[in-house]
Amino acid sequence: MSLPTENNDRPDQGPADTATLQMVDGTKGFGGEPVLRDMQLRLNQGETLVILGRSGSGKTVLLKCLVGLMKLDEGSVLIQGQDLGSADSKALNQIRKKLGFLFQGAAIYDSLSVRENLEFHIHRQLQIQDDAEVESLVMKVLQDVGLEEAIGKMPSELSGGMRKRLGLARALVSKPDLMLYDEPTTGLDPVTSQEISRLIRDTQSARGVASLVVTHDMRCAQTTADRIIVLRDGAACAEGTYAELESSSDADIKAFFS
Ligand SMILES: Nc1ncnc2c1ncn2[C@@H]1O[C@H](COP(=O)(O)OP(=O)(O)OP(=O)(O)O)[C@@H](O)[C@H]1O
Ligand SMILES: [Mg+2]
Repeated sequence: MSLPTENNDRPDQGPADTATLQMVDGTKGFGGEPVLRDMQLRLNQGETLVILGRSGSGKTVLLKCLVGLMKLDEGSVLIQGQDLGSADSKALNQIRKKLGFLFQGAAIYDSLSVRENLEFHIHRQLQIQDDAEVESLVMKVLQDVGLEEAIGKMPSELSGGMRKRLGLARALVSKPDLMLYDEPTTGLDPVTSQEISRLIRDTQSARGVASLVVTHDMRCAQTTADRIIVLRDGAACAEGTYAELESSSDADIKAFFS
């Protein structure tokens, strides 16, 4: 068993062309306060990488920089080899089509039913207008996330877990190559959290997408992660499998497992 790497070692998971998402020397701060410092990250094809970090450690900032919603002060982000920093808005849009997000707000329109939320997204994002094709896409994606019975419900009638499923369905409709989840289990009870964690894992194995999961929920990390990076003071302080990190002697890392 290899030990987790301590400090800021550059992750080295194989040849560069297997990385679907990569951050190199990422630095980002606000008003002179650094949030990310020389952050290194690489996510390989078909892999689920969990970013573990305490509240305020910069996880959401990291995600936003990775998808181009925030600009790094220094360093670069590469998605399937393309540098976000040098992409114009047209190229950025093309890159974003490969990404599926499940952010905390889940981007659900409260005045539209489950079916209408998905139809609206399919019309707008995928420019598909054929009714039969739209219907079949909606049914397929609702089955994939286990929400077919809620097809006629309004968002106000959905539980927290069902809202997450709808958010995931919306993201999956575009057949992304890369899924990003920000705190997917926050606010859910332990049983529902575990259902969502399994759904993330099953989505990854059924579709072979690469997934990045940001969380401080250790059960979610255990269920979903092939590999975990611990974020501390804006940089990766340790990296390894769940089992490797669990046996770490570093007090800060042990604290996550207690
Ligand atoms: N737009 C912004 N302007 C100024 N400071 C910001 C901005 N966004 C984030 N920050 C700061 O960056 C730091 C990291 O925030 P971030 O939201 O990434 O934390 P987090 O790890 O996602 O926390 P949580 O687990 O609570 O979601 C915080 O100190 C926050 O105040
Ligand atoms: Mg956050």
